[in-house]
Amino acid sequence: MCRQTEKGRAVSEPTFAVPPKAPANVRVATKQAPRAAAAERVPDPGSELGPTGRPFPALPEPGPRRAPVEEAAVDQAAVGQRSPATVIALCNQKGGVGKTTTVINLGASLAEFGRKVLLVDFDPQASLTVGLGINPNEVDSTIYHLMMERDVPLDDVVIHTGIENLDLIPSNIDFAGAEMQLINEVAREQVLARALEPAVSRYDVILIDCQPSLGLLTVNALAAADGVIVPLECEYFALRGVALLKGTIDKVQDRLNPKLQIVGLLGTMYDGRTVHSREVLQTLVNGWGDAVFHTVIRRTVKFSEATVAGEPLIAYATSSAGADAYRQLAKEVLARCPGA
Ligand SMILES: Nc1ncnc2c1ncn2[C@@H]1O[C@H](COP(=O)(O)OP(=O)(O)O)[C@@H](O)[C@H]1O
Ligand SMILES: [Mg+2]
Repeated sequence: MCRQTEKGRAVSEPTFAVPPKAPANVRVATKQAPRAAAAERVPDPGSELGPTGRPFPALPEPGPRRAPVEEAAVDQAAVGQRSPATVIALCNQKGGVGKTTTVINLGASLAEFGRKVLLVDFDPQASLTVGLGINPNEVDSTIYHLMMERDVPLDDVVIHTGIENLDLIPSNIDFAGAEMQLINEVAREQVLARALEPAVSRYDVILIDCQPSLGLLTVNALAAADGVIVPLECEYFALRGVALLKGTIDKVQDRLNPKLQIVGLLGTMYDGRTVHSREVLQTLVNGWGDAVFHTVIRRTVKFSEATVAGEPLIAYATSSAGADAYRQLAKEVLARCPGA
């Protein structure tokens, strides 16, 4: 169960001024922003402001994992520490904001910290499956089969990635028809929650990579989750959809899943050299307060390179700033979700 974070207020239109454009033939010297250097690396805790304009907290080193229910059942030493998986949905109805990249790299970081992690590709576009180096056309069983067919064992759909502690339930284009089919199901909003039941007793953390929509599939993901992480590109239009998403989260919490909470909003593709990126992040913090993660993910081409290589950045460029940022995010998530 995730810690209650300060509830965000709806973000209205940002009010910052748009800087006047210089004539095309005038070269403008770009001033190095004071916070740009801080954004290059994870800031020193306590001593300096992070990119969100708040003092960067000292995050605790992740403790040892607590055995999932199934392991605790066979390991006497772990009895008393049994804990079901913390299920987190990565949601934003906008595409290209870093949901899939965050699922891959947050998942890989949590696995590095010893958590047993299951990633669920919940998007027919199957970017998560591709991003982990798996050809969606070559997988026989997907999340579609687990949800729509009775008695499909979890082991038939789970793929072990090449990374220790990191498993995947893949997706492919078969899943595109699922939304239409779900409409006729009994308790159609809770089909994923039921399908994931066996996984909840086997893993420490389950991350669901949602498709860019607020339709029935996303409602299924929210109904199955303990918490939501909302990745947002640090760009003006990113702010406009957040209030709508919050409305959907509130409805699911009211009607289907009272335990659902916002774990945090994550600024992605941040460029500390631009006033624009910094102002968007500030507007986000003004509206949502501590719900915004202290960690932000900088824009770097390394993420696309890692996708082409079919690996998390954590593995592809293990000591890069991007990899470190996701490790930092994993610490923040573990601090906010003590059960994980
Ligand atoms: N921090 C980042 N910096 C630069 N490119 C990024 C970053 N995060 C993601 N990308 C790239 O942006 C594209 C969209 O990201 P993705 O994670 O697939 O978004 P979504 O799942 O929200 O559609 C991908 O090509 C990805 O490699
Ligand atoms: Mg995606």
